[in-house]
Amino acid sequence: MEKLEIRDHPIFKGVYVSHHEQGMKLYTKNLIPGKAIYGEKLVPYKDFELREWDPFRSKLAAMILERPKHNYLENKNSCLYLGAASGTTISHLSDIIIKGIIYGVEVSERSIRQLIQNVADRPNIIPILGNANFPLNYAKVIFSEIDLIYQDVAQPNQAEIAIKNSDYYLKEGGIGILAIKSQSIDSVVRSREVYEKEKEKLQEAGYKILETVNIHKHAANHVIVVYKK
Ligand SMILES: C[S@@+](CC[C@H](N)C(=O)[O-])C[C@H]1O[C@@H](n2cnc3c(N)ncnc32)[C@H](O)[C@@H]1O
Repeated sequence: MEKLEIRDHPIFKGVYVSHHEQGMKLYTKNLIPGKAIYGEKLVPYKDFELREWDPFRSKLAAMILERPKHNYLENKNSCLYLGAASGTTISHLSDIIIKGIIYGVEVSERSIRQLIQNVADRPNIIPILGNANFPLNYAKVIFSEIDLIYQDVAQPNQAEIAIKNSDYYLKEGGIGILAIKSQSIDSVVRSREVYEKEKEKLQEAGYKILETVNIHKHAANHVIVVYKK
């Protein structure tokens, strides 16, 4: 059996790495030891437990593997997560942002039921059944300023949703991490056009694009755009 040499990630605090022939693997420290969320491997490490973080299931993990310029998660205590689904990525974020709070908005009733089951014992996640197109509808539940918005809703109006939520919730200087899916599967040129258009919309709304991370290796037709208010 391959022996795991696990270390702290050099940039992303709270993330752990091991090197393999196939590349780097990522882990987070399991906030609820013994419990896996989506069938991920649990690995004992020092006096705690890690959860393997699958970049094919989580675009945030895919982004980290592409070595972004900065740790955009650092000092982010209050997060708004749009498109929480059944909890794969938000649970890893909850392992990382242990002192903060993450509001997870999800529009599908089926997914929110699974999300609630999966993360009920995680005190730093607040699941919200809501439509990210209408940010005011969940304003009553969100009682703190937001440092970070993570969005992965796979909708055609993704930039528009990001702008609405960022205008309303994101604090000045706050960071947005937006997974952009191009609707085009077969044309590289067409995909690029979609990404550029979505970025232009953010810029026109006053947001500064900090970085674009191509995550095609793990998530077809996706890039991650990081912006600042
Ligand atoms: C690609 S999946 C998200 C996967 C998830 N981010 C993860 O990595 O664990 C997209 C999710 O966004 C949700 N969604 C789509 N449109 C939405 C909207 N307008 N408001 C909130 N959630 C939405 C879908 O129901 C789906 O669960």
